[in-house]
Amino acid sequence: MPDISTRPLEKADYDYIVRVIDQWWGGPTSALAHPVYFYELGQHAMVAEVDTRVVGFLFGFTAPDNSGYVHLVGIDPDFRRKHVGTLLYRTFEDRMRTVGIRRLKAITTLGNEGSVRFHEALGWTSKRVDDYAGPGRARIVFTKELKPTDLS
Ligand SMILES: CC(C)(COP(=O)(O)OP(=O)(O)OC[C@H]1O[C@@H](n2cnc3c(N)ncnc32)[C@H](O)[C@@H]1OP(=O)(O)O)[C@@H](O)C(=O)NCCC(=O)NCCS
Repeated sequence: MPDISTRPLEKADYDYIVRVIDQWWGGPTSALAHPVYFYELGQHAMVAEVDTRVVGFLFGFTAPDNSGYVHLVGIDPDFRRKHVGTLLYRTFEDRMRTVGIRRLKAITTLGNEGSVRFHEALGWTSKRVDDYAGPGRARIVFTKELKPTDLS
């Protein structure tokens, strides 16, 4: 098991993520890494590192409805199933508790079975919502209630 740590997202990390994201996802994805998730909504964004290598990231923020929203998470394919994603999510959840957030939300596209299994393994509830992203554009909506006491 590698020694994995997290730290806040910096501009050099954002630049790196934009360069590798299509390869990490196996297709065009860079539009999802909009710079707003660094400049305006990056306060809680973070990366995971092994030594000094960035092996994962999480773009997440507090929404005006007092929920914590995970917009995008990605793990280097060489480092999947090593609990890098789990560490990023646990760290984000702890940060959300610290700032008084009790409800989390994320979405994914239909067919992203890995994402569904990952969120369910971490205690999130998943639900298909038809027309979520517009007519004929269903999404899987993940939610999780945070208990104030279960800091990990
Ligand atoms: C989904 C993703 C973030 C998971 O990250 P990860 O670091 O590989 O996940 P973890 O190692 O922390 O997995 C924790 C648990 O989730 C479940 N899980 C994770 N990926 C899974 C997969 N592909 N299939 C089935 N279960 C999975 C397992 O129960 C796993 O525990 P285990 O390995 O001890 O059995 C990663 O695969 C990824 O970056 N995918 C491409 C991008 C993506 O789909 N992002 C999410 C939507 S925006």
